[in-house]
Amino acid sequence: MRTVAWNYDTNLLEMIDQRRLPEVFTLAAYRTHRETAQAIREMVVRGAPAIGAAAAFGMALAARESAAATAPQLLSDLHKAAATLKESRPTAVNLAWAVDRIFGALSQWERAGGDGVDDLRQLVLTEAQKLADEDVEINKRMAAHGAELIADGDTIIHHCNTGALATVDWGTALGVIHTAWEQGKKIHVLVDETRPRLQGARLTAWELEQYGIPYEIISDNMSGYFMRAGKVQKVFFGADRVTANGDVANKIGTYMLSLAARDNGVPAYAVVPTSTVDLSLAHGGLIPIEERTQAEVLDIQLAGERVTPKNAKARNPAFDVTPNRLITGIVTENGVVYPPFDVNLPKFVKP
Ligand code: MRU
Repeated sequence: MRTVAWNYDTNLLEMIDQRRLPEVFTLAAYRTHRETAQAIREMVVRGAPAIGAAAAFGMALAARESAAATAPQLLSDLHKAAATLKESRPTAVNLAWAVDRIFGALSQWERAGGDGVDDLRQLVLTEAQKLADEDVEINKRMAAHGAELIADGDTIIHHCNTGALATVDWGTALGVIHTAWEQGKKIHVLVDETRPRLQGARLTAWELEQYGIPYEIISDNMSGYFMRAGKVQKVFFGADRVTANGDVANKIGTYMLSLAARDNGVPAYAVVPTSTVDLSLAHGGLIPIEERTQAEVLDIQLAGERVTPKNAKARNPAFDVTPNRLITGIVTENGVVYPPFDVNLPKFVKP
């Protein structure tokens, strides 16, 4: 089933509540764009393409919430809703990209002579649904390109969660691994647990179990050990934003993983739909990095007891930027991009 989906019987947005996995598999339903923004902030839904789709459907909710009687009034309400949704998480460009794509479809409709507020309302949902359907198709294309990079017998380190749960379905980096497995390649995955929210230990491990792919969870600080021991052939991760020069913002820890990969001659691949590529930014230093609450780092327990001192303080940047020189290739739905990224990336991204 899809991670993010519109329920046409209830006209509500439904999403798998990722905060409760792997213990509880449950759907949460949303009736307003504000609730949707809150769900994105609290990581009910997370992963760049999944939050893009959630935001698009959030716009469809906003269109239904609005009491506007004319198209200009509805557009004005939609612009307010867009601002709320865009503010929910700053780093993944897919969020703003999805909201802007809805406005693109509305302008096209206006230019084609469309009018009528109800048609406009319906168009928001139609475009959101199209975006969600395309996400699945794009992921499958990316997976086919990326799977060619994986050899039979490879052990792969994977960071964060990039699977079906991070997208509408199938996934980015984990989608590549899943496709390679379905092609019959024997693969072993070392799953970075991905502190502090443990997307790897909780979500990637859960997905790999569903697919029957062999894996072991490692704590993030073990990856260098395994690479140095010659036990790892490839590193795969997703991204939340890739800039014009090929710098990659992804879940915190990706930079250190990529440094260790480079030092050990292990190729490191980012797997990203072109909706994650932001050609408007020249380099990764310009990407806004979300800093989340200290509690995500501090509130951990071992044997039922809190680990950190009561008054401890923490820092919690949710993402880091891996400079392009550490990236071997960027897998997109249009093929694998190799350096120099500033020259080659634009050729793979549709205008
Ligand atoms: O904070 P999250 O869980 O939303 O971060 C997700 C990641 O960093 C993923 O690896 C990323 O979105 C790329 S793959 C879908």
